[in-house]
Amino acid sequence: MCGIVGYVGKRDCVDILIDSLSKLEYRGYDSAGIAVFEEGKIVVEKSKGRLVDLQLKMQDNNSRPNGVCGIGHTRWATHGEPSDVNSHPHGNKRVSIVHNGIIENYKEIKQFLENEGYIFESQTDTETVAKLLDYYYEGDPLTTIIKTISEIRGSYALGIIFSDFPNQIFAVRKDSPLIIGLSNDENYIASDVPAILKYTRNYYLLESNEIAVISSDNVNIYDIHKRPISKEVKVADWDMDAAEKGGFKHFMLKEIYEQPNAIATTILPRIVDDIPDLTEAGINVESLKQYKQIFIVACGTAMHAGVVGKYVIERMARVQVHVDIASEFRYRNPILSKEDLCIVISQSGETADTLAALKLAKQMGAKTLAIVNVKGSSIAREADNVIYTHAGPEISVASTKAYSVQLAVMYLFAFELAFAKGQISKEECKRLTKILMTVPEMIETMLYSTEACKFAASRLINSDSLLYIGRGLDYALSMEGSLKLKEISYIHSETYAAGELKHGTISLVTEGMPVIAVVTQNSLKEKTISNIKEVKARGAKVIMICDENMPEDKEVADFMITIPCIEECLTPILACVPLQLVAYYTSVLKGLDVDKPRNLAKSVTVE
Ligand code: G6P
Repeated sequence: MCGIVGYVGKRDCVDILIDSLSKLEYRGYDSAGIAVFEEGKIVVEKSKGRLVDLQLKMQDNNSRPNGVCGIGHTRWATHGEPSDVNSHPHGNKRVSIVHNGIIENYKEIKQFLENEGYIFESQTDTETVAKLLDYYYEGDPLTTIIKTISEIRGSYALGIIFSDFPNQIFAVRKDSPLIIGLSNDENYIASDVPAILKYTRNYYLLESNEIAVISSDNVNIYDIHKRPISKEVKVADWDMDAAEKGGFKHFMLKEIYEQPNAIATTILPRIVDDIPDLTEAGINVESLKQYKQIFIVACGTAMHAGVVGKYVIERMARVQVHVDIASEFRYRNPILSKEDLCIVISQSGETADTLAALKLAKQMGAKTLAIVNVKGSSIAREADNVIYTHAGPEISVASTKAYSVQLAVMYLFAFELAFAKGQISKEECKRLTKILMTVPEMIETMLYSTEACKFAASRLINSDSLLYIGRGLDYALSMEGSLKLKEISYIHSETYAAGELKHGTISLVTEGMPVIAVVTQNSLKEKTISNIKEVKARGAKVIMICDENMPEDKEVADFMITIPCIEECLTPILACVPLQLVAYYTSVLKGLDVDKPRNLAKSVTVE
């Protein structure tokens, strides 16, 4: 949800800003812009569209600034359409800013500033902050920033430059992420680690309401009373190659292929003597026993991982699990108590709704556990306990490896809980855990042959709409399959519980409509097959995802994609792979921008 960067050092900064922004385009790509000190003056270049449009604009107009200090922005539009004028940086000759977040009281501030004679050009909330900074500026940036943030409400990570301080960047944040990259004779700001990985691994995590003053050889951090704060230097352990495509055509495909390794790295350190051991996350068998109910709260793909988690936990551990979309959970007045556990799941660890839901659950006295991919992220820091998934950076907007590692953690958790509650014996827990340990290798084998998925994709590209159906865990998984397809191929799709179709949705089925049926649950196979026959009788073309023991039968499926046989409860972690690949190839065959689907952003730090 917008990415911000900044550089101050001895080198020409434009290439560095552009390169860093390219690593943050997953946060939004409606427009891009930079503000650079050139001969002591602030020069701004910005353009609607992708980063490449900004580069072309500077090239065509011969307007590329030169300088060693600057800030940059890539936008996901919230207030005001994507346009040149709404692009960041915002400001004037005296102060220029880039912003990630939303200023909730921007209308009041705008009104106040208009009464003071300011004229606004854009429809953005950000412009009010730029102008408020200008209004308060009397020569001391720190005082100006403190006065400004005491008046604004909402979430923000701000990179700020003042023309009177040509070799300094000022930064402040609240509820939107910001790090300060540290190197020799040069320093950086960025919304996320991949933006700086090429230049340095060392960074500070800025906390809410801390203000950083950054020059090439110094970083000073203050609280809102101007008291200096000393900070611990963090070291990024992500591999730089992980933020590059490494020979794959798209990040999404690369990330699909990274799943075996990501799952292995996530589960193996948490398995001791062949059973899950989550003590590293502060979870032990005794504490697990006490919870009356579990609430799983998340957004998007992470929420879908929670739905699979619900089915598995309830089935195995016999504990009631509720799954909520975070933005609904917050406002539906949920009933939680200190006897309950709230699990939040988030790849980025920054999703605003998930973070707010977590805070609410804490307020209500529930114990909280976060399953998060990004170390030190806001959600990881807020939760009582954290289990980190080790997927490495996920760049493609459509989430793949983050989902499968979230599923892997759900299984570890479910097995340990079921054992702790005496619902399964130690032997059974070991047996299931050992099967889970074979998953990475099984996925690796599946990834050798993807022809069936490509063929299935070729059958979908001319459709306007399709259905995904399944029962039980197959239904839970279908939700993610459908989301994957629609977000990157722009083909409308719906997920339906197979048994529910006849209660309305079957009226949508017409001659030739594709239906993707997930049929991996032995105990439910016959029932789902009956539902498939119902849609086939009405002209649907059925693509069935099933295990390799399923006999071919043209009366059931027009085309089959098979997965290796595995324990019934574990099928989603295998079957998600062909669903991801079908979505991927459909988008590729349609010639779409797979990694950056329209209107979306990867990390959504606004409500
Ligand atoms: C956005 C992304 C989704 C993601 C969701 C939750 O909507 O486009 O891919 O699943 O946010 O993100 P999180 O980082 O909390 O997992």
